Amino acid sequence: MPANILGKNFKIISFGESHGECVGVVIEGCPAGLKIDLDQIQKEIDKRKPGQSALTTQRKEEDKFKILSGVFNGITTGAPICLAVFNKDVDSSKYEIIKKIPRPGHSDLPAFFKYNGFNDWRGGGRFSGRMTLNYVFAGAIAKQILEKSGIEVLAHTIQIGKIKAEKQKNEDIRKNKERTLVRCADLKAAEKMENLILEIKEQGDSVGGIIECLILNPPVGLGEPVFNSLESELAKAMFSIPAVKGIDFGAGFGVAELKGSENNDEFFLEQGKISTKTNNSGGILGGISNGMPIVFRIAVKPTPSIAKPQQTINLETKKQEYLKLEGRHDPCIIPRAVPVMESMAAVVLTDLGISGGFIPKVFRK
Ligand SMILES: Cc1cc2nc3c(=O)[nH]c(=O)nc-3n(C[C@H](O)[C@H](O)[C@H](O)COP(=O)(O)O)c2cc1C
Repeated sequence: MPANILGKNFKIISFGESHGECVGVVIEGCPAGLKIDLDQIQKEIDKRKPGQSALTTQRKEEDKFKILSGVFNGITTGAPICLAVFNKDVDSSKYEIIKKIPRPGHSDLPAFFKYNGFNDWRGGGRFSGRMTLNYVFAGAIAKQILEKSGIEVLAHTIQIGKIKAEKQKNEDIRKNKERTLVRCADLKAAEKMENLILEIKEQGDSVGGIIECLILNPPVGLGEPVFNSLESELAKAMFSIPAVKGIDFGAGFGVAELKGSENNDEFFLEQGKISTKTNNSGGILGGISNGMPIVFRIAVKPTPSIAKPQQTINLETKKQEYLKLEGRHDPCIIPRAVPVMESMAAVVLTDLGISGGFIPKVFRK
């Protein structure tokens, strides 16, 4: 079972390591005839770039990407597209320690035993947040495909630690989220979130949060029940983002407290189109999009690598030790995970859009 491939019709293969030569993605099944907007791809990956602000890791990567195949005269040819970035700001010395002293909360310990120590540990190797640059590459192309069908993918931060954003209108999310370092459209809450991250960073600690994703203007019929339902495909993609620990759709776990009469989204006709009064289902019924906005959230844990000393085991001596980490880490993963969530959602929608016949294999104009 190939483990580094996602999707069936718009298939992405993620390659590279955090401190290896490069990171990149191969996309198999991208429709031919798509005019690629290179600036748009760069804009998307700049949102995820390290070193953006005091709220993110200070690793400095330019992330200037190269398209190595599948695009000719600026247009996709239908052949596999390969995008890559060569890693520049690599300092693996701070990671030597985790070869034998695994970080609590990180992948070091299970990866060491699973791969018998052969895994690339430099900068977290394949488990690094850096690997999500590949998701943003693929997502940047997927978004350009979805745009042609009028489908918009919009993710924004709704919670960091215990600070929650007030619900915002879609136009305000669009307008405001990139104005704040935490990508939260509630400007007042965003300021509090930023201060919280700085405070927690000062304490040598980290903090998690919740990101919401909205897919606007989807067609009815995305999703292939039962095993490739829209929920299962989105969940699989979201859990491929490191540090994601939960997902819920629409009213989510809140449905447990509702009666059927409260939870059911009643149908009505609006200018000849069937709509629902509420959207507790998150735009998905029976694993298929129902035409309402698709709404789901992911819970992201606090960054495992922290400066505060934590108890662990030395795998060589089998003795207990305290690990105090140095190195460059995100005090909160959320701000950089917002474009990653958006990208993975776009990849899934494109994949299901092709299998459902909503997206052609060749764009003819
Ligand atoms: C955008 C992004 C940035 C991340 N940055 C860091 C980081 O600086 N330090 C760290 O320890 N983990 C970071 N992570 C999380 C780890 O990669 C992740 O927690 C680890 O691989 C273990 O996987 P799990 O949390 O899914 O169990 C980041 C994740 C993402 C998505």
